[in-house]
Amino acid sequence: MASKLPDATKGLGAGGMDVEDGSGGGGGGKKVAGRWPGFVHFFFVLTVVTCALVYAPRFLSPTVPVDFLGPRQPSSGRLPVRVDGGRGNEGDALVLDNQVNSPCASMGAHGICCDRSDFNTDVCFMAGEVRTDAASLSFLLFPPQAPNGTANDANATVAEKEERVRPYTRKWEKHLMANIQEVRLRAARPDEADAHRCDVRHDAPALVMTAGGYTGNLFHAFNDGFLPAWLTVQHLRRRVVLAVLAYNPWWAGTFRELVSGLSDHHVIDLLHDKRTHCFPGAIVGTRFHGILAVEPARTKDNRTLVDFHDFLAGGYKDDSTPPEATQQQQQPRRPRLGLYSRKGTRVIENEAAVARLAESVGFDVSILETANGAPLSSEYAAVSACDVLVGVHGADLTKLLFLRPRRAALLQIAPLGVPHVARGCYEKATAMMEMQYEQYDAAANESSLVRKYPADDVVLRDPEAATRERGWDLTARVYLGGQNVSLDLGRFGDTLRRLHSRALRLPVAGP
Ligand SMILES: *[C@@H]1O[C@H](CO)[C@@H](O)[C@H](O)[C@H]1NC(C)=O
Ligand SMILES: *[C@@H]1O[C@H](CO)[C@@H](O)[C@H](O)[C@H]1NC(C)=O
Ligand SMILES: *[C@@H]1O[C@H](CO)[C@@H](O)[C@H](O)[C@H]1NC(C)=O
Ligand SMILES: *[C@@H]1O[C@H](CO)[C@@H](O)[C@H](O)[C@H]1NC(C)=O
Ligand SMILES: *[C@@H]1O[C@H](CO)[C@@H](O)[C@H](O)[C@H]1NC(C)=O
Repeated sequence: MASKLPDATKGLGAGGMDVEDGSGGGGGGKKVAGRWPGFVHFFFVLTVVTCALVYAPRFLSPTVPVDFLGPRQPSSGRLPVRVDGGRGNEGDALVLDNQVNSPCASMGAHGICCDRSDFNTDVCFMAGEVRTDAASLSFLLFPPQAPNGTANDANATVAEKEERVRPYTRKWEKHLMANIQEVRLRAARPDEADAHRCDVRHDAPALVMTAGGYTGNLFHAFNDGFLPAWLTVQHLRRRVVLAVLAYNPWWAGTFRELVSGLSDHHVIDLLHDKRTHCFPGAIVGTRFHGILAVEPARTKDNRTLVDFHDFLAGGYKDDSTPPEATQQQQQPRRPRLGLYSRKGTRVIENEAAVARLAESVGFDVSILETANGAPLSSEYAAVSACDVLVGVHGADLTKLLFLRPRRAALLQIAPLGVPHVARGCYEKATAMMEMQYEQYDAAANESSLVRKYPADDVVLRDPEAATRERGWDLTARVYLGGQNVSLDLGRFGDTLRRLHSRALRLPVAGP
């Protein structure tokens, strides 16, 4: 089982098992071996938690434009009227599980199968006729119908056991998962058919997911929401009905392009829609391959993070924009650098000078604002136009997913004390997009903390030691919550020049 876990989870898996009581006190015999997993564990948790919590309030602030809630959002309650659910040939069995080596990959045409082998997520599959029971938030599997309409119970026996799933990808985070509704799956008893007559009959299977969790934070909306949902159902080519827990108009409005990119059908508000919905199958829960990760070898169709980017592009790209390669081909090219401007904490105090520096190096510079309430499609347009995206850790760098694969570069500025966290969030995803990753680690003399701590304080001198001693609180309060940076223009200029000449070396017209 361990060998199937994505890399990102290995640290935590190992750490969680080996460290808690073993090396914590440091008195054991295997000091080095014991301490390392602890260290990995610590930074993994840190990574996840920072990508997680720190930015949530910003993105959750009620600055979302109200017109999102207006008529442009996909309607939620309407009956699906499509007749062609488009299962290609009627005879083809519906392939629900697209994951290689899953215990459910070979399930037959009738049954319930749960894959609980992943560290981050449980996913259950129901093949056959599925009906909802709103009162108990259950999905019931009915036996196949014999030609004359009676239940054919010959080989239709499914395990009696009721399965329960909370469809979210952070199964190890207990307090969060407690807020994700638990969905039940079980075989229906033969006498239950009458009590569960179909009010709405769908010709595509359901995907049960949640709009809850940390969805208000952009990193999580992608990492734990849409990327997992895409991983789970992209092979169905929109022939899937999203049955959403914690559905809300903000979610539907903010992510409408992604919702309609995943599914051709109207979304079901699972907690409020009391009708009995019937499906030819259901998937409850979503797959997870690691932080902003797609592992091609785990998908039957060899999908990559570039494919996920293309999915986003399909939703966000404005077709009226002329392809940029045709413009200005003759003039000496000035690559575009997008500089994310944060407010409050982790501000680049000499941002204006940094922007002038980038211009003098040869970039056209766009100053991008984080979480300013602009629709994601306009954010997509702004970011996808950049050859280089620059930001301090926490500045919406999840939008690296909007950059052009194989061409762009991400330059992450890590404030003092958080280089591991910064790298853990975005380096791998950048590589999976076949883009260049650069990280600029602020030195002590570039940190605003020099104004607060004496030069020989451990906080400045040895952040790793300070973090090991004082833990998460120090990271959250001081390194992330109480620090700005003022970049050394000489050193930062070297990084910019490197990225500039790389951008010029790339052919102008590219995918
Ligand atoms: C049709 O229904 C009868 C009972 O009404 C049952 O005995 C018979 O097996 C059914 N036929 C098939 C093909 O299932
Ligand atoms: C039931 O299963 C048995 C053996 O597994 C098979 O021979 C038989 O054809 C099956 N019957 C139906 C109706 O599928
Ligand atoms: C998967 O895709 C990669 C690159 O897109 C390719 O190199 C590889 O051969 C593919 N593997 C399979 C099994 O198709
Ligand atoms: C800041 O510290 C680095 C070493 O950490 C040093 O190379 C650099 O010269 C210092 N810059 C200033 C302006 O003192
Ligand atoms: C960081 O900069 C912002 C904006 O200039 C300012 O409000 C904040 O107080 C600064 N924080 C620190 C720790 O200097």
